[in-house]
Amino acid sequence: MRRSLSGIQPSGKLHIGNYYGAIRQYIALQEECDAFYFIADYHALTTVTDPEEMEANCHEAAAGLIALGLSPERATLFRQSDVPEVTELTWLLSVVTPVGLMERCHAYKDKVAQGMVASMGLFGYPILMAADILIYDSNVVPVGQDQKQHLEVTRDIAGSFNHQYDSEVFVLPDAHILPDVAVVPGLDGRKMSKSYGNVIEIFGDAKQTEKKIKRMKTDSTPVEEPKDPDTCNVFALFRLMAPEGEREEMARRYREGGVGYGDVKKRIAELFFENFGEARERKAELDNNPDELREIYAEGARKARAKAREVLDRARDAMGINRPL
Ligand code: TYM
Repeated sequence: MRRSLSGIQPSGKLHIGNYYGAIRQYIALQEECDAFYFIADYHALTTVTDPEEMEANCHEAAAGLIALGLSPERATLFRQSDVPEVTELTWLLSVVTPVGLMERCHAYKDKVAQGMVASMGLFGYPILMAADILIYDSNVVPVGQDQKQHLEVTRDIAGSFNHQYDSEVFVLPDAHILPDVAVVPGLDGRKMSKSYGNVIEIFGDAKQTEKKIKRMKTDSTPVEEPKDPDTCNVFALFRLMAPEGEREEMARRYREGGVGYGDVKKRIAELFFENFGEARERKAELDNNPDELREIYAEGARKARAKAREVLDRARDAMGINRPL
């Protein structure tokens, strides 16, 4: 059976960009793949420096994933740091990774441009991500567009290793990116991202969420004028959440004219609660039961670690450092 694998950083609250861009695909793939999903806390260390915040964020992410439909019976859910083998593999991979490959990574350049300190952790982030993927023999990696380059880097590194050690140690993974949701726009039309402060949190306060949606940026086209659904950020969010028939009807009304942004925003707020209401209730239950999550993590880590050990040993053997003295 094919392995699907993905990770999500516990660096803030889950937002609908995470959901439509990635989490919904995690859930769909758990039906047809041997699915491994993890909370990328080692990665989040590059931005989260407060230990209490880290713990709370890990809980938020895991409880959120389960509330949204990730099933601990069908998928293996674990914390990245519960499989420390991945840090050893990171080292083994870093010796075959050219510095130039890391220097070309957009995510690193963007973060430094935003004023983040250029730590070695931030610089080597894609190598840890490659190790995350390769250590489980992953075939398919559901992610949003912003991770595409990291998947290409992973394939490059795996290919270099296999070539250099004349081996088939690593399976080359494919990114699973759905074009319609590859970049979910935020409240201001830019990519939805915590660092832009333009997110709709899935489990945020109900009143605040409604307010945020109603304050979304729009242009000043009058109600009666025709509007282009393909360039409107309000429509982009509506399209994500509305059922198909309603989407087509709204696109038609946009083109004809007569639609006011206020009405569309009101409908987006309703759709938000229709789509996420149940998950929000389930999440509140999980918040009251942290022991359940701990058990899920422990079981997930046990399974993930067994697989990680096997692949790490393959890499060590190929490199000549696993041989008996
Ligand atoms: P992270 O935590 O930033 O985001 C988690 C997932 O959500 C997707 N995403 C989006 N998709 C569409 N539109 C958006 N506006 C949007 N915002 C976020 C991301 O593409 C991602 O799939 N480096 C990864 C975590 C990671 C990982 C891995 C992923 C670590 N190791 C191994 C896959 C495989 C990250 O920072 O995702």
